[in-house]
Parts: sequence; C-alpha cells; structure tokens
Amino acid sequence: MCGIVGYIGYEQAGPFLLDGLQTLEYRGYDSAGVCLNDGSELIVKKAKGKLKVLKDMTHDGEDLRGTVGIGHTRWATHGEPSDVNAHPHLSESGRFAVVHNGIIENYQLLKDYLTSKGVEFRSKTDTEVIAQLLEYYYKGSLVDAVIKALEKLDGSYALGVISQENPDEIIAVRKESPLIIGLGENENFLASDVTAILARTRTIYRLENNEIAILGRESVRIINTDKEEIHKEQETVDWDVNAAKKGGYEHFMFKEIMEQPKAITDTIAPRIKNGRVVLDEVSLSAEELKNFNKINILACGSAYHVGVVAKYIFEKMLRIPVEVDLASEFRYRDPIVNDKTLTVVISQSGETADTKEAMKEAQRRGSHVISIVNVVGSAIAVESDDVIYTWAGPEIAVATTKAYSTQLAVIYLMALYFGEMLGTIVPDEYKALVKELEELPDKINAVLENKERIQYLASKLFNSKDVFFIGRNIDYALSLEGSLKLKEISYIHSEAYAAGELKHGTISLIEEGTPVIALATHEELIGKIVSNIEEVKTRGAQVMCIACDNHKELEGVGEMIFIPKVCDMLLPSLAVIPLQLFAYYVASLKGCDIDQPRNLAKSVTVE
Ligand code: AGP
Repeated sequence: MCGIVGYIGYEQAGPFLLDGLQTLEYRGYDSAGVCLNDGSELIVKKAKGKLKVLKDMTHDGEDLRGTVGIGHTRWATHGEPSDVNAHPHLSESGRFAVVHNGIIENYQLLKDYLTSKGVEFRSKTDTEVIAQLLEYYYKGSLVDAVIKALEKLDGSYALGVISQENPDEIIAVRKESPLIIGLGENENFLASDVTAILARTRTIYRLENNEIAILGRESVRIINTDKEEIHKEQETVDWDVNAAKKGGYEHFMFKEIMEQPKAITDTIAPRIKNGRVVLDEVSLSAEELKNFNKINILACGSAYHVGVVAKYIFEKMLRIPVEVDLASEFRYRDPIVNDKTLTVVISQSGETADTKEAMKEAQRRGSHVISIVNVVGSAIAVESDDVIYTWAGPEIAVATTKAYSTQLAVIYLMALYFGEMLGTIVPDEYKALVKELEELPDKINAVLENKERIQYLASKLFNSKDVFFIGRNIDYALSLEGSLKLKEISYIHSEAYAAGELKHGTISLIEEGTPVIALATHEELIGKIVSNIEEVKTRGAQVMCIACDNHKELEGVGEMIFIPKVCDMLLPSLAVIPLQLFAYYVASLKGCDIDQPRNLAKSVTVE
C-alpha cells in the first residue's frame, strides 16, 4: 500500500529519494516524507497531500543534505493523512527513523507498554512504535536493535531504518510486504518495487521474509534474525526503463489502454507454438488434471472480474464446475476445498494481502494453485505451485486496464490448453479458436481506433449521477468491470446487473434520463438482452449499447458502439475497450485525478 525508498552512496540522497517516490506514488499518495542523515543528525521533511507538496517544499530534493536517507509515500491505515502521521517516523529523541509498509497488528499493546515506560508518542500510527522500540533496545548496534524490535512485532512490514549514530548504513527487512535491494557502483538502494531504481541499476536482491539487509555504500550484507550470513542470488531486471514513464500521454491509464494490443501479444505469442497452446509453466499432467472435480478462482477487484469471466469460459469449455470467490470472503468462510480442487489465483501485483492469504488457505487444504500474476518475483508468484505471468509490463495507473486484458488472455490460453488435455474441445474448434486468439490484438487496435465515438458518448453522459451496466452471461461478467472502472476513477455511482435480474428490484431505480450501458455481444442471448433494453427504455433510460458488427439491426436500440465479431470466448477482450475508454473520458471531462483516484492505492497489501 505504501511506497518505500532508500539511498546510501556518495551522492546527495535527496533527488534520488524524491524521484524514487514519484515512481512509487501509485502505491499511496495521501502524504509523503523523507529522512536523511546529514552527518550529525537526522533531518525529516514530510507533508500531507500528494508528493508534489514535498517536492516543492524541498525543491525536488535539492535542498536536502546527506548521502544516506529513506523516503515514503503513504496510504493511511492507522491515523488520518496528516503531516504528523506521514512517514518517516522518529523515535522520541530523534535518533532513529523508520519508514514502513504494512500493519503492526499489536501496536496498541506495544504502545501501551512503551508509554508506561515514559515514552511519548507523537503520531497516531502503528509505525511509530517501531521507531520507539529501536531507541528502547539500542545498545550501540543498530542491527541488534532492529532484531530485538522485530521479535516484538506482529503483522506485516517492509521497513527501512536509519539512525543518527550510524551514518554509514541503512537496515532493511520485510515480512509479507515487498522490498527489494538495488545494487549500484558505490551506491545501494532500497525500494518497494523495482520501478523506483530502474534508472540507476538493474541488479537486485529480492528480500524474503525475515531477511535483514545491511546496506553500506560499497556493499550489502544479508543476514537472518540469528545474524547468520545469507548468500543470495542477484537478479537482473529486464524491464524497459521507459515502461514506467508516461511517454507523452497525459495519463498512465490512457497509455496503458493503448498498450493493450502489445501486452496481449507479449502474453500469448510465446505460448502458441505451431498452432498449439503450450503452457510449460503448468506442472500438471493430463492425469492430474482429470483428477480435479472443481476449479476455484480467488482474486480481488478487477482480477475477481476476470475470474467471473473465466467461470463462464472454463465451465463451457472444460465442463468442470467453477467457483469464483472474492479472496477476502474465501478466507473466512471455511471453504470446501481439497486436493481435488484446482485453485486459480489472479493478481496483477502479486502482493494483494487478501488474495495471498486466500491462496495460502487453499494450499493448506491441499489444493494445487496456479497463479496468474504480472509482477515477476512477487509473493503470490513465488508461493503458488505454478505461475503463469501476464507480460503486461509495469502498470502504474491505479485503475487496471492492460493487466485485466492480459489476465483474460491467460484465461483463454488455459481454457485451450486444458481443453485439449481433457479432450473437451474438438480439434476444429480448437484450431479456429487459436487462430482467432492470434488475431485478437489487431481487432483490439480496431476498437481503439473508434475512441472518438466513445469520447463523444462520454461527453453526453459525464454529468450523470448514477449509471447502470447490464449484460447476460459473459456480458454480465464484463459489466462488473465496466461499472468498477467508471466508479473508481470518475466517482459516479454505478451498478452492474445481470440484465435478467433487473426486474427483481433494481429496475425501480431507472427513471427519465438514467444512463444504462447494455452489453449485447453474446450471440446466443441477443434477443433476451434486447428485451431487457426495451424494459429500461420504457422507463426512461438513455441506452448506450455495445454490440458486434454482425448485428447492425440493433442500430436504434440506443447509442451504438460496434465492435468486430469474434467468437464468444474472446468477446470480453474487445468489449472491455469501450468500457475502459468511457470511464477514462468521463473522468477526464469531470477533471478527476485519473491515475490516482481518491482513497485508493494500486497495491492493497493490507486486509
Ligand atoms: C481495479 O482497477 C483496481 N485497481 C483493483 O480492483 C485491483 O484489481 C485489485 O485491488 C486487485 O489487485 P491485484 O490484481 O494487484 O491483486
């Protein structure tokens, strides 16, 4: 949820810290701060609001003195967004500073204990207890104080620690929250995510739970909590440094919408060989696959919506019952899952706390887990039994677009791969589907070219208070995503409804002028959805309808957006484009902060 950076070297740390935080701002943006050791004391600058406030305050970090420092961009959990609750947090004497991503679950207990010992707290955060514990346990060795403090902490954390007495080191440690160490020439870095350090180095260590990194200017040591040295493999990151930049676009979201054809090509092309889908990442044999009597899909938010689409596809093509669960619900409902259940976990970040914990619950119950993840080396990717990466590249906008689309692409690959293994797809159909899948990126390009039409429709509806999305079957699954996209970035209330369900209550909300976005792409149910459209029109709804271009007779049921005809399985990949663009243009017309919508953060690493 929050972003952490750290620098130690021979240059002034300020500009790097501010640049690094800029890259991590997607992780949280209600306040930001930095702390540097200027050689004699710790200097903290922090401010409520977007990073820009801190950047202006410090002239992009140029005003800051010190060659060692840590920084943080926050998504508040404990304590409202404010200057005082912003990180870094100092111990009472100001000699120890901490930045933290995660939640200290027993912080109140620790705070009460320290308060009883006379320690005075300044903030309402859980993090401040860590800084105070460091001071409480410090006996001349920072690393010893960190280890002692860790023994007391329950919860999740990625921590960066510096102290006044130790101007030549940063201590970093993590448990259940991501943290990487960047290795440079006479300088080393610390960050929540590689994008923050890509401009300086591509060589990293990915810290595992309870590994402690001691960063000096010329070396990095990694130890465990018993102070035993750990020899870790260095990794080279091959992400394009420009991938995490806007590249001339006004918003990351628009850039990422436009990148979808390429992202899908990158995801499917390496996995289609001579007309056949090959998923080398999946370790299951045909025999093992046949042993499963249920598929269980776990995810949150848009990734969950991919799961809902997947249910329709897998059940139709594999003839195996599929349950899709919100990860946060699955964890606590005593699910019926065992070694006959195949679990599919979907996550862009690979670090969503609920998804990760739900995955572990499924594993504890004996289920084999295949994850679909975008961030390489993330916790879910590493801890699942098999991982199929979506090659979408870094996704920065909080509202997901290209990750959603590449997750769908992996679902198609899985349906084809498993369908062939199980013998549930006839060879001719298989061949036709693979061909259509390979043509999909070009068809998406064709839909993107129609963006002005969607911009025009957005201009007619952007003042609406409520918008309804309706559809049937796979169109219903997609309407869930259309509705979420609109509400998360434009703040317009919207609901997604299975079109046949409207008349059981929700239709009472339709009145003169209420916008209804109807998805009418699913071939077999066109007649049914047209009836539902008539029902809402009769009650005054203004209808925008997305349909395939082989159904031009629908012209007149509402404001039409036509997409190329493809087989049913692939329809969501085309129909989602107008929905993403619609949300984008509406938010833009309303002047919303598109890439960083209020109250949200990209990676939800807390429950
Ligand atoms: C969608 O636009 C959201 N930002 C959000 O729903 C997201 O899909 C969800 O938080 C899951 O994230 P993950 O894919 O990183 O697990």
